[in-house]
Amino acid sequence: EQHNGVVEAQHESPRTAMFVYSGVLFPSNIHSAETLGYAREFPVRPDDLFVVTYPKSGTTWMQEIVTLVYSDGDLGPVQTVPNWERVPWLEQDTGRKHLEHRASPRLITTHLPFQLAPREIGQAKAKVIYMARNPRDILVSSYNFHKIAHFLEEPGTWEEFYDKFCKGKVLFGSWFEHVRGWLENRDKVDLFLVSYEDLHRDLEGVVRRLCHFVGREASDRLTEVVAAHCRFSSMKESRMVNYSLVPEQWIDHKHGSFMRKGVVGDWKTQFTVAQSEHFDELYEERMRGVIMSTSSET
Ligand code: A3P
Repeated sequence: EQHNGVVEAQHESPRTAMFVYSGVLFPSNIHSAETLGYAREFPVRPDDLFVVTYPKSGTTWMQEIVTLVYSDGDLGPVQTVPNWERVPWLEQDTGRKHLEHRASPRLITTHLPFQLAPREIGQAKAKVIYMARNPRDILVSSYNFHKIAHFLEEPGTWEEFYDKFCKGKVLFGSWFEHVRGWLENRDKVDLFLVSYEDLHRDLEGVVRRLCHFVGREASDRLTEVVAAHCRFSSMKESRMVNYSLVPEQWIDHKHGSFMRKGVVGDWKTQFTVAQSEHFDELYEERMRGVIMSTSSET
């Protein structure tokens, strides 16, 4: 049931409070009805670039890539400014402060599902990168992240978390609905669909296609800089993206790291055979009719 603009319930846990807004769960430390309302009515500019992801799809990786594309390979910004300031999350409490007076072109991140994203995103003709990832790997990544991210709810056991994810009772709601919402509306926005797996397979190719999409030159130097700087091992060491600047009360760096494994297919080490079969069925049922081919396949 939808109640736009109304906070429907508060879920308290020893760690944090989550709240439901328009049927979707949000961590309340940095989101509120006010910030989500701002995001929905955000005045979009035609030269804005949005990085849209469901959490744990490789958001940070794409933020790094677009920063380098827009700096023409200059490493200055990625080496001196944290990702959340360079490519700020629209829906977080600092969204307005970072974005309102920023010079164009603005690089903007959002995890919002389509129905809560800026109303103007289509008609303003802004560019949108939708980054997808195998939901099984997202599930494993998210489970591990919940263990160390104290602004999120306790994940519970793996079985419990698996169940919550399948039911969409996790932050930013159901993965299935997120992907469906954006892809079913792809003709209303100027959308570039790419996946975490594409980036693993062919980072340089993605950078070239991305440059073409945003109308920038894909020089050899740029692709070389991205290839070297955006490797998992380099980003894991970078304080501007590995979240080591975030205080311990929010992320417990002693018991894990944001840059965890950075691989494709880790779900195979975590899913039981029964879960794997169940998830295949669920995927089939929930994703029927959704065309997932990304820019590397078309
Ligand atoms: P894992 O937990 O599977 O390692 P997000 O930025 O959307 O929160 O996604 C985080 C996931 O992206 C984590 O996945 C993280 O390790 C991975 N990641 C971040 N930078 C990466 C890179 N340069 N190469 C590969 N994976 C990366």
